[in-house]
Amino acid sequence: MQTITSVSEMQLLAESLRAQGQRIALVPTMGALHPGHLSLVTIAKGLAQVVVVTIFVNPTQFGPSEDFSKYPKQLEADLAACEAAGVDYVFVPEAADIYPKNYSTYVVEEHIAKPLEGASRPSHFRGVTTVVAKLFNIVRPHCAIFGQKDAQQVAVISKMVADLNFNIEVVVAPTLREVDGLALSSRNRYLTTTQRVEALVLSRALRKATEMVAAGERRVDRLIAEATHLIGQQRRVRIIYVSIVNRLTMEAVKGEITLGSAVMTIAVWVDEVRLIDNEIL
Ligand code: PAJ
Repeated sequence: MQTITSVSEMQLLAESLRAQGQRIALVPTMGALHPGHLSLVTIAKGLAQVVVVTIFVNPTQFGPSEDFSKYPKQLEADLAACEAAGVDYVFVPEAADIYPKNYSTYVVEEHIAKPLEGASRPSHFRGVTTVVAKLFNIVRPHCAIFGQKDAQQVAVISKMVADLNFNIEVVVAPTLREVDGLALSSRNRYLTTTQRVEALVLSRALRKATEMVAAGERRVDRLIAEATHLIGQQRRVRIIYVSIVNRLTMEAVKGEITLGSAVMTIAVWVDEVRLIDNEIL
């Protein structure tokens, strides 16, 4: 495994791999890798000869009051995890190389990025689409793997790829969960034992919704009411949103769901820790 820190070096390497006819799979991350990230690597390995993981805590996707400066960093452990997972190249750029002084160009998806995460984190997706577009241009992958855990991110990036004619296949990986249901997330480490117990209500509420759907329930209001009720029982959990949206457009589904096209998506505060989760219905 090779670690690359320079943008130009990564670009040269990508071009030479392409010239040799090698397929490149990209797994973009912000590091603090956990088995959820590594499940994306496993999928990537099945799709291409060369797997590139990027580790970059992207400043532009954090709001002014968000946790950018305290976002967990553990490069040594991340590199070891990548090596063990069979990654070929880890690209770890410097912020000044990605966003040099006087940087002024951004990629903005103007529709899907607006509700849900976009409503509570106004510049978040502008940062995500900008950095992902840049990583696409630097790593020149044939395919890129993203987690369903961030359902809106998947929808926004898929739209960007279509709208900007990136010749890249977006592959969506299922959400990896702990045995008790908690979706793996770099932010879980901020939870105390008590908070973690209360955080389990997210996956419980989503599971309840999928059970109701399996039992024949289709009404959006009833599914949301039940999930909201369950979450409301936890003292430390405050709802940011509980929504049922179209999985491609992120528009609210009205009336009844159509199986497979709707996703229930939840964001909460567990005290001061912000968590999201979702399940396709
Ligand atoms: P990060 O939060 O590090 O996540 C990197 C990738 O791992 C994303 O595609 C995310 O959806 C996926 N992921 C996280 N937890 C997962 C889980 N439990 N199961 C499956 N996949 C999971 O998402 C980002 O970074 C950034 O926004 C990025 C795309 C790298 C742009 O900066």
